[in-house]
Amino acid sequence: MIAYTPIDIKWSPPDYNKIKKYFLENYMTNLSSTTGYSSLLCAIASPHDVTNWRDASELFPEIKYDTLREDPVTYFAPGITNLFPELVELFNLLPFKQFIGAMFNMHVSELATHRDREVNIGLGPERYNVLVSPHYEQDSFYVTQNFNSKKYYTTIPTDYPVYAFNNNDLYHGADIVLDQRIIIVCMGILDEERHFKLINDSVKKFKEYVIEI
Ligand SMILES: [Fe+2]
Repeated sequence: MIAYTPIDIKWSPPDYNKIKKYFLENYMTNLSSTTGYSSLLCAIASPHDVTNWRDASELFPEIKYDTLREDPVTYFAPGITNLFPELVELFNLLPFKQFIGAMFNMHVSELATHRDREVNIGLGPERYNVLVSPHYEQDSFYVTQNFNSKKYYTTIPTDYPVYAFNNNDLYHGADIVLDQRIIIVCMGILDEERHFKLINDSVKKFKEYVIEI
């Protein structure tokens, strides 16, 4: 099965220093005490109105993955739409029938092998992430069949920073902490037809980067 593929969306991220500045001024301050998650996260968008975007307890209980809302609304964190209009454009290009939210993620420690089973179960490489720091073609993030199986390090080609991986059936992690590497984790309920077309086209285009396990 396809574990990882770059995605055929040509998109240039905003200036990295601008993103880093935003991140460092706005990341959630109580993430670890609220969720136990050891990375740093900075919310970009939420399906709910949020009072304090730096408070993980406001964001996390509210992100529900499994139900379509009748009247979906996306709220953006303060400053996002003005500072980073490219992000809003990108979210519109992703094959979601309902966009749920997004956040910047900076790993500051090793991410242990795990899998996520949140939404879009059975839809192949369903987790769409985006690299927004200049860490192309550097080993860190890997996919693997199980806890002690071979790790396949992913390659993110320059010019194509959007990638998808199968986070439901397979496992993944990051065991080399790259200096201030920032990705965007995108969440939503997929439009299956658009999703599979994009995956098929991308797998054909990026044959040499695709990881099949
Ligand atoms: Fe994960």
